[in-house]
Amino acid sequence: MGKPQHGGNGRGRSPFLTSYALTLAFITFVSVLYFKDFSSTLHQPFLHRPPRHHRRQISRPRNHLLVGVSDFWIEKAGKEQATAEPAEVQLPFAVGAAPAGCDVGQGEWVYDEAARPWYQEEECPYIQPQLTCQAHGRPDKAYQHWRWQPRGCSLPRQNSFEDKNKDIIEMETEEAYGMVLGAVLKWVESNMDPKNSRVFFVTMSPTHTRSKDWGEDTDGNCYNQTTPIKDLSYWGPGTSKGLMRVIGEVFSTSKMPVGVVNITQLSEYRKDAHTQIYKKQWNPLTPEQIANPKSYADCTHWCLPGLQDTWNELLYSKLFFP
Ligand SMILES: *[C@@H]1O[C@H](CO)[C@@H](O)[C@H](O)[C@H]1NC(C)=O
Ligand SMILES: *[C@@H]1O[C@H](CO)[C@@H](O)[C@H](O)[C@H]1NC(C)=O
Repeated sequence: MGKPQHGGNGRGRSPFLTSYALTLAFITFVSVLYFKDFSSTLHQPFLHRPPRHHRRQISRPRNHLLVGVSDFWIEKAGKEQATAEPAEVQLPFAVGAAPAGCDVGQGEWVYDEAARPWYQEEECPYIQPQLTCQAHGRPDKAYQHWRWQPRGCSLPRQNSFEDKNKDIIEMETEEAYGMVLGAVLKWVESNMDPKNSRVFFVTMSPTHTRSKDWGEDTDGNCYNQTTPIKDLSYWGPGTSKGLMRVIGEVFSTSKMPVGVVNITQLSEYRKDAHTQIYKKQWNPLTPEQIANPKSYADCTHWCLPGLQDTWNELLYSKLFFP
């Protein structure tokens, strides 16, 4: 509960990248939960589908994670090999075989300005700030241009995703978010029993990165804030009402009841509750940072004890007094 979800509405971010990342997240999530959905989602003709009786048996124990599915396949294939002709074993996610004798871990770095990097640091809004070296003043760029070349073979091109660019559909953030949530819900519906389980969804945790948002005329953020916002209608620009609407719409169709723990509005008021500068600093602060504390204030996470305790109270109340 202490880890905020990302509540950005994509403002200032490329809608393509947002949708792309959401789509990727969607594919990854669904595939980890349930491989069968993954193969049909991608419509990859080269992806081997198991024979019908395998499929039926795999679907029966519904709450299988990917690991379980793989184990089952190997075990099953082993039995068949002992009895009949060798079974065609296709590992989940596999789209081809590795070249014989190729160890991709053995090789060398090749300087390749044309092929690397794949993207520019500033193009990807999802890199954690402890990794954005250019933004943090690294003077050289050569480190971005090295390509790993295994000895005697090549790394597969990222063709399941990269070369399928033509199949990547641009969509609105709300639509992509709805797809992700719909997939989660589908999994929940087929794996959870409403007779003995309950499902809750906690809404987005907001941030307070610009004091102008709550009407201050300074150029600040959550740093030095000591009191909550009093304006009951306050809703920060970083939190999308559109996504809120999607959440409501998706869960209203659910066969499995999903309790929505709506922490967003109450957390919006708490500009005072963020960690600010009062946290373990993983890297020593620079003299510039020390001179300007708001520049490194954390306005995303929250101090504890604090706001998250209230999130838990909401959860308990929903759990015990629905
Ligand atoms: C933060 O508060 C301290 C103490 O009240 C004050 O000295 C300082 O100027 C404030 N800093 C900012 C950026 O508002
Ligand atoms: C959460 O509460 C806010 C404020 O009352 C509302 O605008 C929003 O739609 C709610 N979200 C959900 C998913 O119910």
